[in-house]
Amino acid sequence: MALKITVIGTGYLGATHAAAMAELGFEVLGLDVVPEKIELLAAGRVPMYEPGLEELLARHVAGIEGSSGRLRFTTSWEEVGAFGDVHFVCVNTPQKHGEYACDMSHVDAAFASLAAVVREGSLVVGKSTVPVGSAGRLAAVLPEGVDLAWNPEFLREGFAVRDTLHPDRIVVGVPAGASGERAEKTLREVYAVPVGEGSPFVVTDYPTAELVKTSANSFLATKISFINAMAEVCEAAGGDVVKLAEAIGHDERIGSKFLRAGIGFGGGCLPKDIRAFMARAGELGADQALTFLREIDSINMRRRASMVEMAREALGGGFLGKRVAVLGATFKPDSDDVRDSPALNVAGQIHLQGGQVTVYDPKGMDNARRLFPTLGYADSALDAVRGADVVLHLTEWREFRDALDPAELAEAAASPVILDGRNALDPARWREAGWTYRAMGRPRA
Ligand code: UDX
Repeated sequence: MALKITVIGTGYLGATHAAAMAELGFEVLGLDVVPEKIELLAAGRVPMYEPGLEELLARHVAGIEGSSGRLRFTTSWEEVGAFGDVHFVCVNTPQKHGEYACDMSHVDAAFASLAAVVREGSLVVGKSTVPVGSAGRLAAVLPEGVDLAWNPEFLREGFAVRDTLHPDRIVVGVPAGASGERAEKTLREVYAVPVGEGSPFVVTDYPTAELVKTSANSFLATKISFINAMAEVCEAAGGDVVKLAEAIGHDERIGSKFLRAGIGFGGGCLPKDIRAFMARAGELGADQALTFLREIDSINMRRRASMVEMAREALGGGFLGKRVAVLGATFKPDSDDVRDSPALNVAGQIHLQGGQVTVYDPKGMDNARRLFPTLGYADSALDAVRGADVVLHLTEWREFRDALDPAELAEAAASPVILDGRNALDPARWREAGWTYRAMGRPRA
């Protein structure tokens, strides 16, 4: 009989995983402890902007006309325990308030609730990003006869559906012995389709599986901070970091991806994951191995400050009484997520220093308003730019690059000066339309 799957926690990760499992043909039951989330999902809607996810839900959520009916949602643990052969735990692990370590309370609560209802012979699969050592500890919480595997998730916001259905790799951490063999066999069955499509399936122990996730994110953060450090040197030496990135990226050993210099990384993962990793290494007595991550973090934070300085300089030395247009609020394009967004951080710093800031973002306005209610907001890029003394391009939405008319915006601005914090606009196009265009790590024309 086909395996029945539950997904515990229906945020970005869980909602996407649940819909993807239904797409692969499984009967799926999603659980969340927040009833409002469940109501929304049961109607085929998601509380965030993620391209393709609502379409995928509509194809499978029971009760939606024309759907497969394979995907249902609940708030009942009893139902989850009775239903599932395989339980995926997808709850979040945010940064602890005022500390580097991550907050495991949601994971611990989910395991405690699951342990009370899970059937003997079923498999629990942890997908949350956790400090190394957690899986071993959590295995002991589950009753005898229930197996645990750790299967980290590498999806990117904005590409969540694609990354889940066609993963670069599937990593599975299992214990040695019969329990691990059973867990591996079951997960090979669950992921038969992606593996058939060529996704590598890497089987390892718990700590390695946990570390794959944190080390992958640390590597990505390091790549971004590396190129941003080169941007700082380029600024000092008169070099061009965009050309430099292109040139080093041709070396296959380096690769061209994740070498876009600018105001740096943000979001709900990279910043908190590298901090939690440092905290955990410290607990393990291996903190020296990760001291470089402290530098990665500080290069990253310095880019935000340096964007503020660039804007101050463009305004002749101060923000008081100046109008600053900010294009972009989310931490990256194709998402409405503003968690630890470099764009909003820069906007907030300028506002605190007396600048009159007006923000526009294609999808992040509601979340930005909630987080930074004192900033000004406009309904379009043109409205944000109207009367501006300087324009900051801080999230590289395609519509900013392709759909904006620099000539029209130049007319609307009080002073046509644009600072590109993402190195994503075409300098020639803006300069031809009369703009002073400056970017991070690039020479001034
Ligand atoms: C990341 C990892 O990529 C993903 O594998 C993991 O599962 C979760 O964390 P995500 O947070 O969705 O995904 O965003 P990502 O695309 O990695 O971008 C992170 C940040 O880095 C963004 O703020 C982005 O603007 C910035 N970035 C990315 C750069 O500044 N330069 C680059 O070259 C690439």
